[in-house]
Amino acid sequence: MRFIYYFLSFLLILLYFLSFSPVFSQESEGGPMDKCERILSEDEDITDPVKLEENIAPTDREFYNAIKQSDIYRGGDIEDTFTYFKTSEGQTSYEFLLNAVPNLRGKTVVDLAGGSGPLSKLLVEAVGPQGQVILVDFNEEELSVARQKIRSKNIEFLSEDAQNLSSIPSSSVDVIFCSLGLMLFRPLQPVVAEIFRILKPGGILSGIVLPDDLFNTKRTIFNEYLEAAAQYDSPELELEKWGWGDLGADNVQGMRKFFNETTGFSPDMRVEEFTLAYEDKPENMLILLRGFFQTSYLIRDKETRNELEKKLLAVLKKHQSEDGLMLFQLPFIRVTLKKQTENKTK
Ligand SMILES: C[S@@+](CC[C@H](N)C(=O)[O-])C[C@H]1O[C@@H](n2cnc3c(N)ncnc32)[C@H](O)[C@@H]1O
Repeated sequence: MRFIYYFLSFLLILLYFLSFSPVFSQESEGGPMDKCERILSEDEDITDPVKLEENIAPTDREFYNAIKQSDIYRGGDIEDTFTYFKTSEGQTSYEFLLNAVPNLRGKTVVDLAGGSGPLSKLLVEAVGPQGQVILVDFNEEELSVARQKIRSKNIEFLSEDAQNLSSIPSSSVDVIFCSLGLMLFRPLQPVVAEIFRILKPGGILSGIVLPDDLFNTKRTIFNEYLEAAAQYDSPELELEKWGWGDLGADNVQGMRKFFNETTGFSPDMRVEEFTLAYEDKPENMLILLRGFFQTSYLIRDKETRNELEKKLLAVLKKHQSEDGLMLFQLPFIRVTLKKQTENKTK
């Protein structure tokens, strides 16, 4: 009996000392986890473009290449989702974004990361025959949907990367719209420089991004859903750790760090909160939300994807009311700002 007691005590002491060894305390060098913790734990400005170069997270191109490989992804998915979701005034997010800038008639406008073209479709009408719309997206799957849908003389489809808009001359654009793109560009800094270059002095940028307090404040179905999705992260992309888009740029505070007087923009960014909502059966909602959250596209293994979708459906069903429907609300922010006449860094 005494022997067993001594043996167990010895074992406990041994385990205690082993827990300080690198193997147990995860202080070993090398893995991506170490790099991630090191960068995030240092109290540094994570939006600094130089530091972002050290970043191991996927670029937006790698992210979209991964999405396109999915057997369930189709061009136009994101547009389908956002055609159903409406503001309290009954507008789609595209109508809401378009209304940020009055008097578009005759103007040259860019729909940056315009996807399958839901906003461009409205823009060709708004600028009229004397105006010009340029839809930029690097994803051919989305662009081909846009080309089929918008057959107007005053639109050009540009298969280009927002980081290098070499086909668009400097100071040639009156307004740039960007629906759900600014928070996805990775890295964002070269895109900011291109936005500055192509805008005329006094030209306007208006975009839709996520709000600041999304992950920190009261629990909503939105972050319950995100948390459930994050558990099924794709090992190649490590989205759970990194998120997507440029670190710190997926909210209005992050935007202010990129778009400010030093990068040539007006300091008075206009920020307007709005919420999109849609009510449907949980099963239908699950399919619609794939286009926005995109996690399902990143899971190659069908069994794992089914497992993920079962968990997501359970989250949705928790919010189902007696009539069998559930309401999903997506909070967003519309940011609008101007290019100043000169770039303060030059
Ligand atoms: C969330 S979707 C939004 C699409 C569209 N603006 C909408 O709201 O329906 C993001 C789009 O950004 C595009 N995108 C992401 N990074 C890009 C880049 N660096 N250059 C061009 N397009 C990009 C993707 O191909 C995708 O179509």
